[in-house]
Amino acid sequence: MMELVFATNNLHKLEEVQAVVGDQFRILTLADIGCADEIPETGDTFEANASQKSGYLYDKYQRDCFSDDSGLEVIALNNEPGVYSARYSGTRDMEKNIDLLLQRLGDHTDRRARFRTVISLRVGGAEYFFEGIVEGDIGFERAGDGGFGYDPLFTPRGRSQTFAQMSAAEKNAISHRSIAVSKLAEFLKTTY
Ligand code: IMP
Repeated sequence: MMELVFATNNLHKLEEVQAVVGDQFRILTLADIGCADEIPETGDTFEANASQKSGYLYDKYQRDCFSDDSGLEVIALNNEPGVYSARYSGTRDMEKNIDLLLQRLGDHTDRRARFRTVISLRVGGAEYFFEGIVEGDIGFERAGDGGFGYDPLFTPRGRSQTFAQMSAAEKNAISHRSIAVSKLAEFLKTTY
């Protein structure tokens, strides 16, 4: 069975990816290969960060692997917070990150935003990218308490609930991450 290392220790992400990729591939976490390194992530695009993480793993362990990088891009804020989504306010406190986003957006009428995920896959020295995007709009206040991160602010285009008001299954059916992961799975299944 083909084994791939996923540059994460987030078991929720692992389960999501394993479910989409199927049992033809075994996905390992960083913990599974004994990697406790703080993997550098200093790029200013999702592509650069995903590539940096998978490149680090590939160089160090010489194993087929992939990594992901995601975030929220708000059009009226020149695509901020982007790669800084996790630490927009200078902390990982999502209440502060959300407050800062709402403050910067103020009562701007253009509320358009997108969540974007980029996956970098390295197999046998070659690199492949997969992207998932979900377009939507930022609310004027939080709604819902499911999900994580900016979910309470984000309503996918054409829907009437924020990601935080949806069930995990409803969100997963349309999320940026699941779109990127499905593309990765499709590639793996047709190529190997
Ligand atoms: P990561 O690269 O998947 O760890 O995502 C980086 C940051 O982007 C997270 O810490 C969140 O703030 C934000 N983010 C990414 N995906 C989502 C999502 O599905 N919902 C809400 N926030 C997200």
